[in-house]
Amino acid sequence: MTREELISRLDNVQSLPTIPPIVSRLNEMVQDEDTTAARLGKVIEKDQVLTAKLLKMVNSSFYGFPQRISTINNALVLLGFNVIKTLIVTSSIFEVMQASDIRLFEHSLGCATAAGIIARRRGIKNPEEVSTAGLIHDLGKIVLRAELPKEYDRILANSRERELPVRDVELEIVGMTHSEIGGILATQWNLPDSLVIPVKYHHRPAKCKDHQEITAIIHFSDILIRAVGFGSGGDPWVPPLDHKAWDIIKFGKSDAREILEELDEKLAELANFTGEIDQEQ
Ligand SMILES: [Fe+2]
Ligand SMILES: [Fe+2]
Repeated sequence: MTREELISRLDNVQSLPTIPPIVSRLNEMVQDEDTTAARLGKVIEKDQVLTAKLLKMVNSSFYGFPQRISTINNALVLLGFNVIKTLIVTSSIFEVMQASDIRLFEHSLGCATAAGIIARRRGIKNPEEVSTAGLIHDLGKIVLRAELPKEYDRILANSRERELPVRDVELEIVGMTHSEIGGILATQWNLPDSLVIPVKYHHRPAKCKDHQEITAIIHFSDILIRAVGFGSGGDPWVPPLDHKAWDIIKFGKSDAREILEELDEKLAELANFTGEIDQEQ
């Protein structure tokens, strides 16, 4: 398959549920300065299934709020519109992921958790946005698997047999990496740049010009979560850490110890969360 063929295929992805119409309605509402969180919340809450899904996500341990968030209005105030919108747009992707690849789902939740911990320590204004970037960073893999299942299996088998990172084999077999694919889709879905860029550059953080800090955090969190062995990104290799990304987020030994301790605790809570999902299926 050539790059061009793949790009045109991504223009009309068939295998994934489309963006719910509610998202364009919400986008329009946000353009209007008079729109309040309460009004947005009311529109979302009309859809009870969506509301239940959203509340479950925002209350999961990777966002780490001490109190339970019980209304969409609260979720919008605490997490911001960008995060809620991304969760709405990608909720169908997560359903596909939970059903088809629970270990990739765990990898994504783990990356979201690590990214949130680091973002909070760095005093980033909206650490939930960073967690959300971690959550969706490998969305290109889900799309690949759903759209081109044969090629995806070949990619994974090749990566294992030849001991190559998945993204190298992706380039060889479909002409594009999952990060590029994810970037294209996130752009199509009108997600904000603060989420598109880390998805697109999480394996090549030195190449991005904007949102470098969040991209560096996602790059590092992806590696960290592989290193601690939570879930699976598809191949067993821990990729090398990019120097530039490390220069941005560099921390000392005592910080590292605290980060790992916090991660350990949160991952244990996450195991409960994914366990619940297993039982629901
Ligand atoms: Fe990746
Ligand atoms: Fe990953």
